[in-house]
Amino acid sequence: MIIDGEDKLVITVIMAAGKGTRMKSNKSKLVHKIYDKELVKRVAEVAKQIGSDEIIAVVGHMREQIEEVLGDSVKYAYQDELLGTGHAVMQASKYLEGKKGKVVILYGDVPILRKNTLENLVIKSFKNKEYATLLTAMYDNPTGYGRIIRDEGGNIKAIVEEKDANMFEKDIKEINSGIYCFDIEELLSALKLIQPNNVQGEYYLTDVIKIMNDKGLKTGAVIVEDNTEILGVNDRAQLELLTRVLRMRINAYHMKNGVTIEDASSTYIHDNVKIGIDTVIHPNTTIKDGVVIGDNCEIGPNAYIRENCEIGNNVKIGNFVEIKNAKIGDRTKVPHFIYLGDTEIGCDSNVGCGTITCNYDGKNKNHTKIGDRAFIGSNVNLVAPVTLGDDVLIAAGSTITEDVPDGKMGIARQRQTNKDRKE
Ligand code: UD1
Ligand code: CA
Repeated sequence: MIIDGEDKLVITVIMAAGKGTRMKSNKSKLVHKIYDKELVKRVAEVAKQIGSDEIIAVVGHMREQIEEVLGDSVKYAYQDELLGTGHAVMQASKYLEGKKGKVVILYGDVPILRKNTLENLVIKSFKNKEYATLLTAMYDNPTGYGRIIRDEGGNIKAIVEEKDANMFEKDIKEINSGIYCFDIEELLSALKLIQPNNVQGEYYLTDVIKIMNDKGLKTGAVIVEDNTEILGVNDRAQLELLTRVLRMRINAYHMKNGVTIEDASSTYIHDNVKIGIDTVIHPNTTIKDGVVIGDNCEIGPNAYIRENCEIGNNVKIGNFVEIKNAKIGDRTKVPHFIYLGDTEIGCDSNVGCGTITCNYDGKNKNHTKIGDRAFIGSNVNLVAPVTLGDDVLIAAGSTITEDVPDGKMGIARQRQTNKDRKE
């Protein structure tokens, strides 16, 4: 990370050894997904986005599953016995020893923390020369969380866990999120001093705050503005809650940028989607990761825009339309009951109701290309690979297996015969 023109070392440790029993799952809690992306992958991505030089995942329970998701994008430390958060970080110490800089601590099950929040925490820690900078939050009901103990001057003195807190400490509304930025060297020396002499018999990472204070080292905190960012996932209800929070956050972002969303509660826009101004999204629409949509389009209701789609300006994607790996040119209309997969279609074309691309032959995904000003009649099958030129007309009900040159009409269906009805 660059701070005041200087390149500073930032290592992130992700705690990912927990059991997650409340999920009632055969899978690791951390490989459950929000919008197609595993919880732990979301955490690793935030660590990457702030410019971490190295990311260490401390894994234990079902570690193979986590390793499969994160691959070699991170390094691994192992915690075989869950002896506490302090113990978890100690397992990563071989990656920290001898290094000068900051170590950021994240939880693998706290997946919707914003990049900016984390970045601000780290920047403050460097700029204020703090040995520990905590991300804290104000909770009306702080039950269950570690409480932040400050002195009269507001300086942070310690963190006291719920189970170890006295009645005065339990009244404190400022809680520890469990996300921190530490000075690497001072964290390592403080970790050597922590003892499991508390109600839970665990090595508490939180104890390093008091140790640093006793040593006269400066500590500080950032109070998170949006409490939803530090929510964790322990069970499926929380998984749903966080999915909802992320959905509303993403939808709000697009609305702020000039997109009309009729019903934000039924609009599912995944990460990294770009949508131009004056585009209207009707209800029950799903738009997957990385899709690009131009200005002034109309999407939905009940549209499913899958991966690798690029939609131009003034395009209509109507109801019950699914498109995947598709490029749609300006002013083209794809109005109802249509599947376009692995398809490129030019400008000013119209795709009739019930049209489908037969893109999969059981082995390969094949490509369909359609030119400008094409008119595809209703209920057409386009058996890929196939290319339709500019200005083509395809007769309704055709099953097109051969290319159609520019300006031609393709018709491929049986002639109608009318027979006598049986008595
Ligand atoms: C911890 C903090 C508490 C804070 C809370 C926020 C400590 C002692 N307390 O409490 O101040 O308010 O988080 O949620 O740190 N983990 C491991 N290995 C372990 C223990 C935990 O990987 O040995 C992982 C867990 O899977 C979890 C995270 O660390 O993702 C937090 O552990 P948890 O036991 O839930 O900590 P809390 O008791 O909630
Ligand atoms: Ca917890």
